[in-house]
Amino acid sequence: MEPLLQLQGICKEYPGPSGIVSVLRGVDVALSAGSFTALLGSSGCGKSTLLSIAGGLLTPDAGTAKVNGEDLFAGNVRDRARRRGRLVGFVFQRFHLLPYLTVEENVMAASLGGGERVTAEAARSRLDRLGMTERLHHRPGQLSAGEQQRVAVARAMAHGAKLLLADEPTGNLDEENAAIILDAFTDFAASGGTVLMVTHERPVAARAGKEYRLKDGALI
Ligand SMILES: Nc1ncnc2c1ncn2[C@@H]1O[C@H](COP(=O)(O)OP(=O)(O)OP(=O)(O)O)[C@@H](O)[C@H]1O
Ligand SMILES: [Mg+2]
Repeated sequence: MEPLLQLQGICKEYPGPSGIVSVLRGVDVALSAGSFTALLGSSGCGKSTLLSIAGGLLTPDAGTAKVNGEDLFAGNVRDRARRRGRLVGFVFQRFHLLPYLTVEENVMAASLGGGERVTAEAARSRLDRLGMTERLHHRPGQLSAGEQQRVAVARAMAHGAKLLLADEPTGNLDEENAAIILDAFTDFAASGGTVLMVTHERPVAARAGKEYRLKDGALI
């Protein structure tokens, strides 16, 4: 079976003050549908860069990236944005919720970028599973960090994305909130979704079924 996420020969360099820095040097990744994978590596090794490429947010210098067989970088800017919106959900360390929308509206806004329309009922049901039913009409500024991240997780999963990419999603959270989010990722994978999660923390990585480590521009 074709992998859900397939990266082949990914290379990325950045210009720096003392010349070009080659961050990714031919990275290959194949993740099957229904898998939950952790990506580890020291600070600055290129984890966020790789995740951005896997989600179609950043164009690699070389290599191909496919989600569900679709080339993330084919077509014009609009085609790419639509494809990314439909196929990928993102969770970041710093939530990125829309400050002027309520919790429920933030989750409904998942479909603005593409994918399935998120009804109020669907948003509430996602939020309920993350223990957020008492906070539906709050705005992000009225929530704790853990609550904000639970909303971000509900939003990333709500529009039917097949691939969930999370960049240190538990980095700012206590253990209880981290556990709620890791349980949600486990459930998402169990229902056929694919999760790739960057983390620095070994116990967090241990919750995933598989671990990759990025070192010297390659995966081990
Ligand atoms: N836009 C950019 N321009 C120039 N260099 C960059 C840019 N983005 C990242 N880099 C460099 O690329 C390297 C990898 O960055 P990246 O953010 O992918 O690392 P990371 O593994 O996610 O680190 P951390 O664990 O600290 O988040 C770093 O050395 C960084 O300085
Ligand atoms: Mg990073």
